[in-house]
Formats: sequence, C-alpha cells, structure tokens
Amino acid sequence: MRVLVIGGGAREHAICRAVYESGAELYAFMKNANPGIKRLAKDYFLHDETDAEKVLEYALKKKIDLAIIGPEAPEEAGVANLLAKHDIKVASPTKEAAEIETNKEFMRHLMEKYNIKGSVKCKAFSSVEMAKEFIEMLDGEVAIKPLGLTGGKGVRVAGDHFNTIEEAVEYAKEVIEKGIGKHHKVLIEEKVVGEEFTLQAFCDGSTIYPMPAVQDHKRLLPGDKGPNTGGMGSYSHKSGLLPFMTADDYEEAATILQKIIEALRKEKREYKGVIYGQFMLTTDGVRVIEINARFGDPEAMNVLPLLTTNFVDICMSMIEGTLSRKKISFARKSTVCKYVVPNGYGIKPKAGEEIRVDEEAIKREGGLLFYASVNEKDGKIYTTTSRSLAVVGIADEIEDAENICEKCLKHVSGNIFIRHDIGKKELIEKRIKHMEMLRG
Ligand code: AMP
Ligand code: GLY
Repeated sequence: MRVLVIGGGAREHAICRAVYESGAELYAFMKNANPGIKRLAKDYFLHDETDAEKVLEYALKKKIDLAIIGPEAPEEAGVANLLAKHDIKVASPTKEAAEIETNKEFMRHLMEKYNIKGSVKCKAFSSVEMAKEFIEMLDGEVAIKPLGLTGGKGVRVAGDHFNTIEEAVEYAKEVIEKGIGKHHKVLIEEKVVGEEFTLQAFCDGSTIYPMPAVQDHKRLLPGDKGPNTGGMGSYSHKSGLLPFMTADDYEEAATILQKIIEALRKEKREYKGVIYGQFMLTTDGVRVIEINARFGDPEAMNVLPLLTTNFVDICMSMIEGTLSRKKISFARKSTVCKYVVPNGYGIKPKAGEEIRVDEEAIKREGGLLFYASVNEKDGKIYTTTSRSLAVVGIADEIEDAENICEKCLKHVSGNIFIRHDIGKKELIEKRIKHMEMLRG
C-alpha cells in the first residue's frame, strides 16, 4: 500500500509515524522539509500543499493508493476532491465537508438548523454598526472571530484580550476591514466560561469512533497568559477522560460530533476522515468552541502513539464506511506533549536560530520527538517563525508522562521557549478546582 501524507508539521510527523508503523510505504508532500518525515518516507516532494494540481500530479506519478491530508488549508483548496476524482482514496474530508472548519458561520448555522445542542449565541456581521449593537447586547462578554482560517490566532476574547466594548468594536472593525480570514465579515459569539477540551473522532460518513479526550494549551505563556497560539502543548489521561470531566461530559461531546456528521450527510456533504471538536465544559453542559476537519496539532501527538490498531486499516474503514464493524483500541496510558518554539514566538519569533536536538538521548529517556517547522542544513536544525518541534512523554500517570517529557526536553537547547507548566500537577489541580467552583 502506498500512502501519501500531505503537510509537514509535527501533527503530520505523528500521522506519518502511524502510517509507517502500519507497514505501508510512506510518501510525503510538504512545503518545508520536515526532518522526521524525510527519514520515514520512501520519497517526498517539497511544494505548496494547497496546490491541488501538483499534489495530484505527484500522487499519480507515485501510484498512491491512499492519501491523508493533515492541515486544513489543502482541504479548503479541494485537494481531497481532486484526488478522489482520479480514483485515489482519501481519508480526509472534501472541500464541502471541511467547511465545518473553514467557515465558522456555516458551522453555527448547521448546528442551529439541525437543533444540535451545545452551540452559543452568535452572529456574523459585515457592518461594524450592527456588530457593535450585538456586542452591546451581550454586554461586551464576547469572543470575536474572523470567519475563515487564521491558524488559531485570530480569535480575541473579552477579559483575556480586551476589556471594554470600545476595544471589542475596534477589533471587530479591523476584522471586517482587513478581511482577516479572507472574508470581510466578523463572527461575534457569546463568551462562555469553563474548561476547554478536545475530542477527536474517526468518521466514515455516518458513524464516529471517538478517541481519548485531550486538553490543549492555546495561550502562549505559563498560567494561560498572553496571546493565543497554534497550541503550546497538551495532555491526556489513561481513562480517556480528563481530570476535570465526567464520562457524561465525554458522551455529550461525542453525541454533538455524531449529530454534526449526520447533519453534514443530510446536507449532501458526507464527512470522511478525522473530525475534531474543541469544547468548553460549562455549568450548563458542553459547548462547541470550534469544529475542525482534521487531527489537532498538538492533539494528534497525544492520541496517535496510543493507537494499537493499524492506522491505515482505520483509514480504509473510514473510506469504505465500515467503521461501526471495526474494532479500534488505544493503550490505556497518559500522555504529555510540550512544544518547543523559537523565542519570541507569537509576537516576534526568532527565525534562523540553531536548535540542538539529541535524538538518541530523547529515545533513551523513553520520549517521542516530532519535528514541526524547522529547516535542516548540513545536519543542523534551524528555527522558522513557527513552532519547532514537540516532545511527548507516555506513562500510566500524567505526572510520570510529564516527567519523561521534561527529561527529554533537557536534550533540546537553543534560543527557544517552552511552556513548562503544561501537564504539571499545579496547573491540572487549578483546572479541577476551576470546574468544581463553577459546578458548585
Ligand atoms: P478558536 O480558534 O475558535 O478555537 O478560539 C481560540 C480560543 O479562544 C479558544 O481555544 C478559546 O480559548 C477561546 N474562545 C473561542 N471562542 C470562545 C467563546 N465563545 N467563549 C470563550 N472563549 C472562546
Ligand atoms: N490544537 C488546536 C488545533 O489543532 O486547531
């Protein structure tokens, strides 16, 4: 089986590793030469991942049987549609199905139309005046979002990123006028309060198979301060739940994903591939923050290494619509993933700096290393402006997984930044207390 993975980040490195371990022959199409993927792949091609024609050309040349798309941008560009048209199997959604991520207004409308529980009060505007009225109606307790893709960095939330109605309106105006996220429109949502978690699921168009829940850390700085980033690190617990959530919360989130899949099917946008729900656990249940049409980054690195079922077989099941008959299992282990980013990341990142990585030592400590956006030159690794690499520790308890992760990180040095508080007891206890306080 010849499998093509599109994308070159740490998430894709984790996907490539799972494909490789499934016994398939791996091919990669990425814009940056990911040093980890390069080594696993039989062959790779460096080019813009949203160039669907080029992806097709490469896939045909390499006689690819199955393609998996990592990031959302190539999905939006219709890469899955074009490959499928040429009889290449694709374990990722079409452009139409991926609109669940690429157009936030579409996602909210779909949930409303099909009466799916868990949405928030929200409205999209192209007029600053009308946006202002809505912000005022919600007393400034809002989240302001560009409609399209911004790599998780375009969202601003009351209390976190601005404090007054004037500041809120100012940012809404900026989103509309600059066309951030490509649409000249802004989505204003009611701000919801609680603890966030991610639930990813395999999906074959009608059935979902949910994976262990993960908690990501979007904020740049320790203690959840600073701007939103693509994600600084994440953890999961061996139970499949998180320390602050119940089995009912998990079920509620899984039901929302299942209903979204059913709604997409009714809209003739059949969804095949991994679906990702970002949820807020609130005092009145689980609320949807966003839906993504792919694995999460970093969350893929928490769940894929635990998969004990052949990943390529699962991909085939998603495509064939036979997921309900498939037995899927994950090792009952806890995981902690921390990203290494260039100093200044999220504000003014230092690109082109050397990072020293002792891969052998990381292996000896029992951790996993996933490369993200770095350049390799003469055997040396250099930063770009994006996240550089991630390290994952796996053990029975979160505490031990965190320890392994930290031991491994000692073997990475340079002008780098790491959120060391991720997965630490202190932060996890803060989350448990926060939820207890909210729930009374
Ligand atoms: P998103 O890119 O939509 O995931 O948003 C980035 C981050 O902003 C989320 O991870 C949340 O922490 C926060 N956020 C987004 N929407 C809301 C909301 N409606 N209420 C509170 N926080 C939000
Ligand atoms: N971890 C956030 C995302 O993948 O969108």
